[in-house]
Amino acid sequence: MNITLIPGNGIGPEIVSSTRKIIDSMKLDIKWDEKHITTRTLTDDLIDSIKSNKVALKGPLATPIGHGHKSLNVQLRQAFKLGVNFRPVEDLRSDLDLVIFRENTEGLYIGEEIKISEDEYHANRIITRQASSNIITAAFEYAKRHNRKKVTLVHKANILKLTDGLFLSVGKEISASYKDIEFESLIVDNMCMQLVLKPSQFDVIVAPNLYGDILSDLCAGLIGGLGVVPGANLSDEIAIFEAVHGTAPDIAGKDLANPISLLLSACLMLDHIGYKAHAKMLRTAIKQAVNNNQTTKDLGGHHTCTSFTDYIINQLEVLNVESFND
Ligand code: NAI
Repeated sequence: MNITLIPGNGIGPEIVSSTRKIIDSMKLDIKWDEKHITTRTLTDDLIDSIKSNKVALKGPLATPIGHGHKSLNVQLRQAFKLGVNFRPVEDLRSDLDLVIFRENTEGLYIGEEIKISEDEYHANRIITRQASSNIITAAFEYAKRHNRKKVTLVHKANILKLTDGLFLSVGKEISASYKDIEFESLIVDNMCMQLVLKPSQFDVIVAPNLYGDILSDLCAGLIGGLGVVPGANLSDEIAIFEAVHGTAPDIAGKDLANPISLLLSACLMLDHIGYKAHAKMLRTAIKQAVNNNQTTKDLGGHHTCTSFTDYIINQLEVLNVESFND
């Protein structure tokens, strides 16, 4: 099948090339439709490629800070109505295992800001019943399918009584249909502290856009950094897989980037397109590498991105995919 491949900016081309080499070494029926983004808005060529392939693997894209064009990541999520941002947080060295469902199309990320005067600016924040219902249902459905015990909804409805109030009330309504799954709600500031103190108390977390984004990075910090948390942006039709981290300009071009986050995103992609045994085998190779300290420097190892890639390819050669079939 054809998959749109977006190398992106900064460390993007390094980790995308690493991931492509590793996936190609498994000799699957995958053809890459490579698209470089060099414009400030999405081109027809890119949109057509994603529309027809329905699956994309993407490197991070840079967004100018404090000025300039609207984030291309946000443009992609909005163009394809990718309302569900799914981010599993699994510590490869311990048994911490939680997942974050982040609403992906609205909240403050609509990017609607207005200038009142030189000294005053306003930002709009949108929460709708439909988008809230989509993300909260996705979280509960995931919990049901994967035998997860609890869904924790994160909000700030004590202050944002209308917007987060709506998100919370939709959560309460939906939870009533999932009697076997425990439901709790926590105010976002308390949630941050609880995650740092005792992350193992959480299972499935669902949050509006900004809180979900911040909590993902906090969770990444708990398990070794941004180099290890994957993500998927999903609608009913289209799936775009990408690392949680950004372009890491401080290490770009130095062969220091950790490709694990994108590799684990590629595992989610392999699950999605039906290569579940290959996804399991690749996850196993990554986990073994981390537990044997065969990692890039951010995780304390000695590998460059290139040598880590070769190491994983060698590991995959000695694993037998048949033994990963359920
Ligand atoms: P960042 O995630 O790029 O980097 C934060 C820190 O984590 C840096 O010290 C970086 O070296 C480290 N890091 C990140 N990924 C790593 C990896 N794979 N291996 C080793 N170390 C890694 O966040 P920052 O610096 O705030 O953002 C840089 C740019 O990325 C901005 O333009 C931002 O808009 C963009 N961005 C893009 C995203 C996307 O395309 N989905 C997501 C987040 C940020």
